[in-house]
Amino acid sequence: MSIWHQRWNENRIGFHRLEANPTLDEHWSSLALQNSAKVLVPLCGKSLDMHWLHEQGHTVVGIELVEKAVKQFFEDASASAVVDKKPTGTKYSTESIHIYHADFFEVQPDEAPFDAWYDRAALVALPSSMRQAYVEQLCNLTSKGSQGLMVTFDYPQNEMQGPPFALPDSEVESLFSKHFQVLRIQWSDLLEEEQRDLSRCSLSVFVLTRR
Ligand SMILES: C[S@@+](CC[C@H](N)C(=O)[O-])C[C@H]1O[C@@H](n2cnc3c(N)ncnc32)[C@H](O)[C@@H]1O
Repeated sequence: MSIWHQRWNENRIGFHRLEANPTLDEHWSSLALQNSAKVLVPLCGKSLDMHWLHEQGHTVVGIELVEKAVKQFFEDASASAVVDKKPTGTKYSTESIHIYHADFFEVQPDEAPFDAWYDRAALVALPSSMRQAYVEQLCNLTSKGSQGLMVTFDYPQNEMQGPPFALPDSEVESLFSKHFQVLRIQWSDLLEEEQRDLSRCSLSVFVLTRR
């Protein structure tokens, strides 16, 4: 059983937020997207951000490893999803939100290639050994010119065990720059806001545009 199955089983889901992430209100419009854009949400959990994206008119496709999270997303919304078994996962769908119960590294969603993607607590949920594979899979699933909005954290990794794992801005640049134009649009010092037990902790927001 993966650590993620264990966490969902034990309800240790401190990452889950009861409101859409304010980053969306602040920055989603920085992406030059049509309302009809198809948006990928990797490692989506049961994030309410997917409702926010749907409310903008987008077709939203989440990918989540743990079935309990997928089921809870639809239960919490009092929505009944149509369930469809696919070769690389099980697709749960309402009219405009589709969530694949699948491994992000293997899934082949019907809706690919995507025009856009949104990463909150996805790449930082993965240890550094898996990050290059994440970027490669993003490239497989997105079209040229597509754009992503990504939120990351950085702190001294030896002061806290992830996830979330520390992801320095310089590593974002080296991971993405071969296939994406990288633009940091926000940097915030979280120590002032959250009083964590860390000597340094910051949040960055990036817009990534696929070359
Ligand atoms: C830190 S949580 C963030 C969830 C969501 N993005 C949010 O903001 O609430 C990371 C999620 O990724 C899922 N996950 C981990 N590895 C995965 C994989 N290989 N494929 C799909 N989902 C995965 C976990 O089950 C967990 O729900």
